[in-house]
Order: sequence, then structure tokens, then C-alpha cells
Amino acid sequence: MIWCVLNGELMPLSEARISPMDRGFLFGDGVYEVLACINGRMRAPALHRKRLLESLSAIRLSVDVDQIFADMMRVLKRSSLTNAKIYLQITRGASDVRSHTFPKEVKPTCFITAMPFEFTKLEPAKAIVREDIRWRKNKIKSISLLANVLLLQEAKEAEAEEVILFREGQVTEASTSNVFLLTGGALTTPSLCDDVLPGITRYLVLEIARNQGLPIVERSVKVEELAIADTLFVSSSTRGLLPIVELNPGGPVGAGVPTVEFYALQDAYNLSLYQNHLDD
Ligand code: PDD
Repeated sequence: MIWCVLNGELMPLSEARISPMDRGFLFGDGVYEVLACINGRMRAPALHRKRLLESLSAIRLSVDVDQIFADMMRVLKRSSLTNAKIYLQITRGASDVRSHTFPKEVKPTCFITAMPFEFTKLEPAKAIVREDIRWRKNKIKSISLLANVLLLQEAKEAEAEEVILFREGQVTEASTSNVFLLTGGALTTPSLCDDVLPGITRYLVLEIARNQGLPIVERSVKVEELAIADTLFVSSSTRGLLPIVELNPGGPVGAGVPTVEFYALQDAYNLSLYQNHLDD
């Protein structure tokens, strides 16, 4: 059975109900988080907590985040899942009148669920490359994801796993992940800015690369640089490190196979998921 916590109440997902006047439903007025849980423990909870607080503050919403983390543990325990992904969504709540501006008296809606999650090593994949048509505040983990939905659907129909996005010729990120290039033994990723979500996996990858002594460069990345990388990969909580070996448009990436450096990084990341230090 799939379990959830809705506004503090633990229940089977099939019993959860929200109002059609919820501002998440009407306006996409809310934020979310996705957390990987390995062996019953959340990966990097402190980093997710910090990002959640930043998203909430950016949309001027205030909730008890300690209670939310306690509720996440409740749903995880009740679900009896060893490995899970937790989905958390907080919206501004429901009011009787549809009005774009914030209602005066409104209680946020908080929804948490845990789904089974198998952390498997993914096969090298294809990606399409498209203009970033999303809004300009992608560092907020907003639930308004229509552009991401349309772009990833396009990728699926092209038998690709991801969409790498660019704005004014510069790579921003991918539709559900951050982008990295390994070139000449150095790790490069687009710098964080309003257009890029500060991925938790991105942070952890940079930390691991630093420990491995890999030179790290955070800078603007031109879209033409993607295909000439030795290895191109994307990172997210649910996919880990996924190598991209073919681009459309763009053709094969590097020699068309991920490099030894990539696999060393991927192995170190996968191993780190089972280590306590991420329980910060
Ligand atoms: N997506 N960029 C975007 C646009 C994302 O949606 C995500 C994650 C990331 C990577 O963030 P993290 O490493 O914290 O997972 C980057 C999640 C998994 C999702 O929407 O399901």
C-alpha cells in the first residue's frame, strides 16, 4: 500500500483528498522536494531542508519545516520501504474565491508520500537539446512544471531520456536534472543562477569530485561544448549520475562511450549513498 501524510494526517494515498480550490491546483502556487531514501535513511536531509526553506521564502510561504521532516519519517516508516523516494509538496492552500493575489486567511496544504525506489546503474542514454522555454526563476523548486512536462514528453517520443536546455546559447540544466561535462580530466558544470536549480546531487557530485582531486569549473557552458565533452552526464536524486552518449541535435558525445573518470565518479557517488556522512 502507498501511504501519505496530508496536512499532518497519516493515511493510505487512496484516501487523500484536497479541495479543487487549492492554489496548487488552480495556479501551481507551491513548491516541492524529492528526496532519495536509502536503507531507510534520507540522503542529505540538511541540504534538502535548506533548499526547501529557500523555495518557501522565495514564494513567501511559512510552514513548520521540522514538523514536515518528522512527517516524512512517519510516512517512510509506515511504508516499510528500504529504498524510497519521498515526494513533498506544499501549496499556499485553498480559499473560497479564485484570486491571483494571496488570500488573507489561508492554511498551506502539505502533502507527503513515499514511493518504492530502486537505485540501479542506468545505461548510457540519449538526450535531446532544446531551448529553455521555462520561466526565469528555476532556482525555486516550483510545482509549476508545464514546460518541463512538455519538453520531457518530447524527449520520450524521440526515445531519449532527457532534454538538455539552453538559453541564449548557454546551457542551463536539463528538464529534471543538472548537467556536467568531463573534459580533459576536469569537471565542468553551469554556474548556479536564477535559471538553474541548485541540485542536491549536483552539490554531492562536486563534493566527491573535490575529494578525488578532480579540477572543478563552475562557469557558463556553451551549447556547442556538449558534444565535444569526453563525457556528458546529468544528475538528480532519482537518477544518480546518468551518462548521455548521444545528442539530438549534436550527434555522439566524445567517443560515444563514457570515460573511466566518469565511472570512478559514478561509483564513488553510488557508494556514498550508503555512508552515514550524508545523514547530516
Ligand atoms: N528533479 N534540475 C531540475 C529542473 C530538476 O527537476 C531536478 C530534480 C534537478 C536535480 O535536483 P536534485 O539533485 O536535488 O534531485 C535539477 C526531481 C528529481 C523531480 O522533479 O522529480
